[in-house]
Amino acid sequence: MKQYKAAIAGYGGMGRHHFKSICTTERIRFEGVYDIDPKRMKLALSDGISKGYSSYQELLADKEIDLVLIATPNNFHMTYACQAMEAGKMVVCEKPVAMSSDELQEMMNCSAKTGVKLTVHQNRREDADYLEMRDAVEKGLLGKVFDIESRVTGARGIPNGWRQYAQAGGGMMLDWGVHLIDQMVMMMAPKKVTKIYCDMYHVNYEECDDGFKLIMHFEDGPSATIEVGTSHFIQAPRWYVCGDLGSLIIHSWDCNGTIVRAVKHEVHWEEEIIQTKAGPTKTMAPRAKNTTEEIKLDGSLCNADYDVFYRNLADVLDGTAQLRVKPEEAMRVIKIMEAAFESDRTRTVINCDI
Ligand SMILES: NC(=O)c1ccc[n+]([C@@H]2O[C@H](COP(=O)([O-])OP(=O)(O)OC[C@H]3O[C@@H](n4cnc5c(N)ncnc54)[C@H](O)[C@@H]3O)[C@@H](O)[C@H]2O)c1
Repeated sequence: MKQYKAAIAGYGGMGRHHFKSICTTERIRFEGVYDIDPKRMKLALSDGISKGYSSYQELLADKEIDLVLIATPNNFHMTYACQAMEAGKMVVCEKPVAMSSDELQEMMNCSAKTGVKLTVHQNRREDADYLEMRDAVEKGLLGKVFDIESRVTGARGIPNGWRQYAQAGGGMMLDWGVHLIDQMVMMMAPKKVTKIYCDMYHVNYEECDDGFKLIMHFEDGPSATIEVGTSHFIQAPRWYVCGDLGSLIIHSWDCNGTIVRAVKHEVHWEEEIIQTKAGPTKTMAPRAKNTTEEIKLDGSLCNADYDVFYRNLADVLDGTAQLRVKPEEAMRVIKIMEAAFESDRTRTVINCDI
């Protein structure tokens, strides 16, 4: 089988992560690297990448390179991607693929014009917690789902560097929102998003959002809440999903969680009000235990296979497979993020058909 040669543009945290991850895939080898920072170039060469280029143009001129992986800050993605496609090299662009839908459209036009493929590293489609939740929903364990809540929270602020600057494509919507929205729309496809409301957080940063809460409505339901926070000292559950027959919680990255589902229609209501520490209630009193069952989740059903992304690149270069992540899918996510920014700016609900 043919082995393809790739080069990385931007050997920071993610560029290096790709190099280390792809070592497990024999079909593609990273042979070249370009980074504007000499220290990162030195590191790449000491890691074992054989060719260090002195400019991006030199990388593009290397006839041996079939594929360019772009892992620079976001504001370079479009220019670098278009230049690579013009040079005849397939492009894998880190997320977010572009700073706007106009930029992505230009990249897609360039791909159509040159006949060169463009894809995006939306790797969180393979995450075990996501697959575990999706599996439960698709098997109908929760019945008809009406609410999905997806949260990623930390308490360390925005990492130092370009992520703090708007011009470079900083902020948490572009950093994490792009992943969580992608997961949600892929799961709900082909349903369209018809309504969007978003509040951006600026707890410690004026220039870029350091978190946000986004509510999206899919046609005929469900409603999806996506929240990202960097000033959340107590972690919120990663997933909380409700259907008419059950609810699911997944607490954290370790994938531990529970499904509680109805096994019997409950008809019995007590005559009297129940007194709790926080006051009296009838409606919110717990269900009788024998009407529900509990399923423990620990991620063991899901084998996260991140290699699948790289194997797909080789198959696409062979001409035997479709792209695993298509630019049109990335376009939907970018348009949803644009609507979210618009909603935050105008403090209104955005009606849409995305
Ligand atoms: N898919 C994921 O899970 C994931 C995770 C983290 C980052 N990312 C994405 O990867 C990209 C890089 O993020 P990072 O965390 O590695 O950032 P980083 O700051 O660690 O690395 C960026 C690197 O790019 C280099 N660089 C800057 N401008 C350049 C230019 N014009 N040409 C060549 N090199 C240049 C910098 O010197 C640095 O080494 C971003 O688009 C980010 O959103 C994706």
